[in-house]
Amino acid sequence: MKQWLSFFLLFVMAVSLAACARNKEPEKTNTPGAESNVLKETSAPESESVQSSELQETKPLPQSDGVKVLVAYFSATNTTEGVAKHIANGLSADLYEIVPEQPYTDADLNYNDNSSRSTTEMNDPASRPAISGAVENMEQYTILFIGYPIWWGEAPRIVSTFMESYDFAGKTIVPFCTSGGSGVGSSVSNLETLTSGATWLDGQRLRGSDSQDTVMEWVNSLGLDFGE
Ligand SMILES: Cc1cc2nc3c(=O)[nH]c(=O)nc-3n(C[C@H](O)[C@H](O)[C@H](O)COP(=O)(O)O)c2cc1C
Repeated sequence: MKQWLSFFLLFVMAVSLAACARNKEPEKTNTPGAESNVLKETSAPESESVQSSELQETKPLPQSDGVKVLVAYFSATNTTEGVAKHIANGLSADLYEIVPEQPYTDADLNYNDNSSRSTTEMNDPASRPAISGAVENMEQYTILFIGYPIWWGEAPRIVSTFMESYDFAGKTIVPFCTSGGSGVGSSVSNLETLTSGATWLDGQRLRGSDSQDTVMEWVNSLGLDFGE
C-alpha cells in the first residue's frame, strides 16, 4: 500500500512538472522582448530605408533648386557692361562678355558714316560678325540675361551671332539694353526669331548710370525663381 502511494505521488509530481513546462513554452517564444527584437530587426532596415529615401528626396532638391543664371552681354563702349555686372553681382550669376574677333574701333562705331563697319553691318540683316571664344557648358544655365547697346534701333548683329550659336530650348531669356534714348524696340522680337523653344521675357532699357539697387529692382520685379 505504501509502495502504491509512493507511485501515485511520483505520478502526480511528474504530471505537475510536465504542465509547468508546457506553460513556460509560450513565454520563451512569445516574450515581448523577442517580438520587439524581431521588430527591431525588421524595422531597422525599414527605418534606414526611410532615412535613405528621405535623403533621396531631400538631396536632389538643392540641385533642382540650383537655377543657374548667365549674364551675357556685348558692349562696345562699356555702358552695357556696367549694367550686366550689376545683374551678375546681384544674382551671383556667371558673367560672359561677347567679344568680337575683330574689335570695334571708334571709326567702326561712327554712325554718322554711311560706310562705317557698324552701319554696314546693321544695313545687312544677314551679317554675323565673328565672336572670339564661347560659353562653356551653356546647357547648365536655365536663365540667360542678354544685354546689348541699341544700334539703329536694333541689337548689334554680333548679338545675332551669339543667339544662333547655342541651343536655348527650355531656357528663359531676359533681354536688356542701354541706348542714347531708344527703347528695346523690335530688337527683342527680331532676336527671338533666331532661337527656338526658349521663353523670352519683355526687354528692358536700362541706363549706364543706374545703380545696382535700381537694376536689381527691375530684376526682382521679373518674378523669376533664381534659386538659392
Ligand atoms: C553704331 C551705333 C548706333 C547707335 N544707334 C542708336 C540708336 O538707334 N538709338 C539710341 O538711342 N542710341 C543709339 N546708339 C547709342 C548707344 O546705344 C548707346 O551709347 C549705348 O549705351 C552704348 O552701349 P555700350 O557702351 O555698351 O556699347 C548707337 C551707338 C552706336 C555706336
